[in-house]
Amino acid sequence: MNIEYICCPNCKNPLVKIDSLRIECSQCQKKYSATDTNIPLIVNDKEKIESEIENRKKHKEEWYCDDQIFTTGLGPYRFVFEHRVNYWTGILKKHLGDESVILDYGCGDGANLKILAKLPHKLLIGIDYNLIRLERAVKNLNSPDYVVLGNAFENLFVENSFDVIFCNHVLEHINEDYELLKIFNKALKPGGILLLGVPNEGAFISKLRDFVLQPYIRFFTDHVNFYTLKNLKGKLSKANFEVIVEKQIGFVFPFSFIDRYLKSKEKICAFLNNVVEKYFPSQSDALYILARKKNESAE
Ligand SMILES: C[S@@+](CC[C@H](N)C(=O)[O-])C[C@H]1O[C@@H](n2cnc3c(N)ncnc32)[C@H](O)[C@@H]1O
Ligand SMILES: [Zn+2]
Repeated sequence: MNIEYICCPNCKNPLVKIDSLRIECSQCQKKYSATDTNIPLIVNDKEKIESEIENRKKHKEEWYCDDQIFTTGLGPYRFVFEHRVNYWTGILKKHLGDESVILDYGCGDGANLKILAKLPHKLLIGIDYNLIRLERAVKNLNSPDYVVLGNAFENLFVENSFDVIFCNHVLEHINEDYELLKIFNKALKPGGILLLGVPNEGAFISKLRDFVLQPYIRFFTDHVNFYTLKNLKGKLSKANFEVIVEKQIGFVFPFSFIDRYLKSKEKICAFLNNVVEKYFPSQSDALYILARKKNESAE
């Protein structure tokens, strides 16, 4: 169980561990429990988080409960997952060392945590507000040492703590995305790195799918932000980040069933990735941006 660099959401002071199942605030003495599987529950109001997730489940329950392994390691999107992992591990490695403190925010089932755990680091923490996913992450990683239930909007992080924040396919779900970028900025050490991955759903080809070919997608998606490289970079810059590396990655076919079929075929997927990344990058499937915290503070 790891609570280093995590604050008391009630008063923003350091937490102390009493025993494996109990954590207390050093200042306001608020007590935080842990699950039987040793996942610390560092939230002000657990019921509030649970009701938000219940609400979101109304969109499509399986998105909040189902095993994400379907979209990662074993499912039809495994080649997409591998392609993205190869890319982001390649750029991230250059910024990691044995002293690195890494946060995976919105870690979900832990598919990326498992990969981060193999890269050089001193400390790795995965945070998510969905306990169903975190329980699965514990199983995936075979250890409860990495994950914490929490919500960044509750003053969760000790300022200037992390060398790297990895946040993959989370920001598009969050209404206050700019606020979250500012929270990440404060939580990073000076010069710290944010690696963001989001869908490229502001692109023409995705809009063709969402507005013309499959308009019903818009009624059940739980995405609230539809980024392009340009608008995401604008938000990052406003939140006090300097973009160092950017990548428009993968292909998307504007009809989801065909898209899934093409992506499930290794050679076709690799071929289309190459074509789109080389000739039509603005119409790619997803965006990765590596950005550095600037020294001046955000507005
Ligand atoms: C599409 S999943 C991505 C999971 C993982 N990062 C990956 O790449 O496989 C989005 C994740 O963000 C989490 N999430 C969304 N809003 C959150 C918030 N405010 N605080 C913590 N986690 C959040 C969800 O619970 C979910 O696990
Ligand atoms: Zn406190």
